[in-house]
Amino acid sequence: AGGTPAATPPMGFNNWNAFGCDVNEALIKETADIFVSSGLKDAGYQYVNIDDCWSARERGADGKLVPDPVKFPNGIKGVADYVHAKGLKLGIYGDAGTKTCAGYPGSLGHEDVDAQTWADWGVDYLKYDNCNNQSDGSQADYVRRYTAMRAAIGRTGRSIVYSICEWGTSQPWLWAKGIGDLWRTTGDISDNWSSIRSIIRQNAPLAPYAGPGHWNDPDMLEVGNGGMTATEYRSHMGMWAMMAAPLIIGTDLRKASAETLSILGNREVIAIDQDRLGVQASVVSDSGGLMVLDKPLAGGDRAIALHNSTDSLATISVAARDTGLARAGAYRLHDVWTGDTLQARSTISAGVPAHGTVVYRVRPLRDPAATAPAVAVG
Ligand code: GLA
Repeated sequence: AGGTPAATPPMGFNNWNAFGCDVNEALIKETADIFVSSGLKDAGYQYVNIDDCWSARERGADGKLVPDPVKFPNGIKGVADYVHAKGLKLGIYGDAGTKTCAGYPGSLGHEDVDAQTWADWGVDYLKYDNCNNQSDGSQADYVRRYTAMRAAIGRTGRSIVYSICEWGTSQPWLWAKGIGDLWRTTGDISDNWSSIRSIIRQNAPLAPYAGPGHWNDPDMLEVGNGGMTATEYRSHMGMWAMMAAPLIIGTDLRKASAETLSILGNREVIAIDQDRLGVQASVVSDSGGLMVLDKPLAGGDRAIALHNSTDSLATISVAARDTGLARAGAYRLHDVWTGDTLQARSTISAGVPAHGTVVYRVRPLRDPAATAPAVAVG
């Protein structure tokens, strides 16, 4: 195999957040169509992923997993062929236990036959969950079960992104590097601000564990699902990009508003997420619900996020010297959401609305005559 398929954080779609178990061939095909027609494919979204509940309740007589014949009348192979013909990739879901989280057949003890079945169907991405795992709860047990599927995928010879959905208490960032390409760091996301705030608090400190081919996964996006404001969805998307998180769309793209598509499709935000250095932002300061993050980008720019998780407007500031920015007489700031360009000298600052996040792409300027201070943006 030619290198990791996840040199940058994976980008795509998964049906779980918007549809739960209600997945079928039409949804996956129509989502692939919209990836192409909406420009999301051109923006970098690639994987169209099927979550739990795609299979029949029992294995076939040959011991293989069987696609639900009503949901997937042409099998997973049929939908994979369709997605591949659009220049996209297909993902599927499995579980390192006796049953999936929703009670469908699990892969514990069936790793080789299931990996080969998925490879034969043309699967490019596997989200591998941890329900019904018969575990003693030890790290050795997690490592054994997740390594068994890693090895089985390897034996198929197919390049498959391996997403470890081992949320919970076992700190996968301490053991999953070298096994999975990404690992869930938190419990399941939900479509409200307290979930986003809590996940950011858990995932942001894990920056040292992330890098190309081994990403922290703070779960799939809720952007567009209706439970948050546009400000909150921009915060969610912007902070996921700062955290070099996988960008897996979790909304019904067939009904997505122009605003939802513009948040998910923001090229500058995506460029921060997908930057080839592959460094998760570090936390520069974190006090009273106000957080500053700093992400190095290829070529010497940095992304600086001013994140306000409180319920009121706040001014958030950081001294350029407290970030990784090269010393310069002035800095050019580009606000990735408003498109405004401004300059700062020694301090980067903004007025940030409640639940908002200002994300600047910052470039050190050589011109020492540049003197305009940063101005607050709402
Ligand atoms: C777990 C995962 C979710 C989803 C469901 C499916 O809860 O964390 O993302 O895959 O299982 O049953």
